[in-house]
Amino acid sequence: MECRTIGAGGLAVGAVGLGCMPMSWAYSGSRQRGDASLRTVHRALDAGSTLLDTADMYGPFTNELLVGRVLKERRPDAFVSTKVGLLVGEQHVVANGRPGYVKRACDASLRRLQTDVIDLYQLHRADPEVPVEETWGAMAELVRAGKVRALGLCAMGARGGRRSGAGLHDTTLRQLQRVQQVFPVSAVQAELSVWSPEALRSLLPWCEARGVGFLAAMPLGNGFLTGTLTPGEGFEPDDLRARHPRFTAEMMAANQPIVAGLRRVARRHGPEVTPAQVALAWVLSRGRHVIPVPGTKQERWAAQNAAAAQLRLTPEDFTELARLPAAQGSWD
Ligand SMILES: NC(=O)c1ccc[n+]([C@@H]2O[C@H](COP(=O)([O-])OP(=O)(O)OC[C@H]3O[C@@H](n4cnc5c(N)ncnc54)[C@H](OP(=O)(O)O)[C@@H]3O)[C@@H](O)[C@H]2O)c1
Repeated sequence: MECRTIGAGGLAVGAVGLGCMPMSWAYSGSRQRGDASLRTVHRALDAGSTLLDTADMYGPFTNELLVGRVLKERRPDAFVSTKVGLLVGEQHVVANGRPGYVKRACDASLRRLQTDVIDLYQLHRADPEVPVEETWGAMAELVRAGKVRALGLCAMGARGGRRSGAGLHDTTLRQLQRVQQVFPVSAVQAELSVWSPEALRSLLPWCEARGVGFLAAMPLGNGFLTGTLTPGEGFEPDDLRARHPRFTAEMMAANQPIVAGLRRVARRHGPEVTPAQVALAWVLSRGRHVIPVPGTKQERWAAQNAAAAQLRLTPEDFTELARLPAAQGSWD
């Protein structure tokens, strides 16, 4: 697979990564797929998807444990990116950016991941109670201690980030400017897909201008852009889409023209090409520093997603994708 680089240090990763979250968290059936998930991670690595994206809060903790079982066997094949700064309670999630906590959390992640170094350590969410420079300073000390190779920042979620009149990523951009004074940012992670292109406005250009890698989260629109979901089928209560405004039966039906467009483009490239691969090829085409991290717990989909790195969209495809209607339904 084509390689892409992350940050000024030029860390190399396969162009399409693997989001490990659905193996333990956020989607229907996430918690019951241990061995199948392990095979999925192996299949992704075999296909050149070296970047494995996880977080201590996925599970919580079980996702890192799962990734650790693979890393124990084939650490040199993988680039592991995990996250710190969010704690999971009974019904809620809270930020913790205290320096002492960050250092303890890193040691715990290293133990679960069965490795002595994390390739990319990302701040999942800044803690409103702690100046972000203090949290980032603690993360920088982890680099100096050899426990972490590079630092990344995840963009604030849509619901928390948008103020009236402000851009979706304004808060994140301010945080990036502040932490950059303390220690270089190697990667930013935020949602980016054909139905959520907001990062193209300011966040992606910010990264491009500084050689910062961009990890595109949710590049398949939480599965919608793959065309495998049926409007009205519903989701289990623990599936994040059960509460997501774009996944009501009405909004899924209203957004079908987006899937239809992806399907038309896929057909032009042959019967084997899927809407999911077109969605990923579009993300890959947004810049040489962009690495989509499609999430899946299924081996066949990890292989299919990795193969999207070879799909070259034509000018005609880009014109068609640029004309897709804007997605309906949002958290606002
Ligand atoms: N930084 C953050 O705050 C943040 C937030 C969300 C996500 N992320 C990261 O981004 C990664 C990707 O996001 P995501 O997993 O939420 O969304 P996604 O990649 O847009 O979509 C994942 C969904 O698509 C399905 N899928 C994957 N490949 C498919 C294919 N080829 N054909 C049909 N269906 C397919 C998966 O099904 P199965 O589950 O059945 O495999 C899963 O339900 C996560 O794993 C995580 O690492 C980060």
